[in-house]
Amino acid sequence: MPTPSHAALRAFVRRHTRLLPVPDAPGVRLQLADDVMAVCRLAGDELGQADPPLPYWAFPWAGGLAITRYLADHPEEVAGRRVLDIASGSGLCAIVAMQLGAASADAVDIDPFSEAAVALNARANGVRVGFSRQDPLGDAPPSVDVILAGDVCYEETMAERMIEWFRLAARRGTRVLLGDPGRNYLPGDLDHLATYGVRTSRELEATEVRMSSVYTFGDSRSS
Ligand SMILES: C[S@@+](CC[C@H](N)C(=O)[O-])C[C@H]1O[C@@H](n2cnc3c(N)ncnc32)[C@H](O)[C@@H]1O
Repeated sequence: MPTPSHAALRAFVRRHTRLLPVPDAPGVRLQLADDVMAVCRLAGDELGQADPPLPYWAFPWAGGLAITRYLADHPEEVAGRRVLDIASGSGLCAIVAMQLGAASADAVDIDPFSEAAVALNARANGVRVGFSRQDPLGDAPPSVDVILAGDVCYEETMAERMIEWFRLAARRGTRVLLGDPGRNYLPGDLDHLATYGVRTSRELEATEVRMSSVYTFGDSRSS
């Protein structure tokens, strides 16, 4: 079954989500779903997938929320810089980076619904965010100043590939900020920057407030 058009994907996101404020990111509104499993089923039907992934694009995840809290405390991390939001989901991290003065922000995700959500969310928040629908991990990390990665350590193979790519990017001088609430495949040797209690959904997590941290990589400098 061919991927629906951009217009159809955006219409789907509008139909099945509401534009709502994000408590941990003051001033940000995102297209958010009320019922994760219902949207998951509907998204699967739309793409012809019998076993669709969660609609990651319809919620701000604890890892991404930690990054947004950290950036609010440290806007100099992104101000004037070229930012890549990898595994962007809703595009929350890229949107916050632009609000804090990033020179540019591009989002990348493999999910076609992420592209639609990022477009709608960027417009709703009055910022420009580029989007590329691909798995970038087979290529060398791009030449950007900062990589933001919210919640990417929940599957073993994905986490291993992401972390290896982040280490390579960091060795090349890119600042990498990884937000993670203690998922199973988070490596233990990262440099911890900050921890926040972020508000999340009981549909996704065991608690309404989850502790989530921001890490960087040894070679990745902030200036
Ligand atoms: C838990 S969500 C995090 C979304 C967002 N960063 C946040 O914190 O709210 C993980 C995202 O990773 C994306 N993803 C998984 N594998 C990927 C890959 N190889 N390249 C790019 N995105 C990927 C999924 O489609 C999903 O949107």
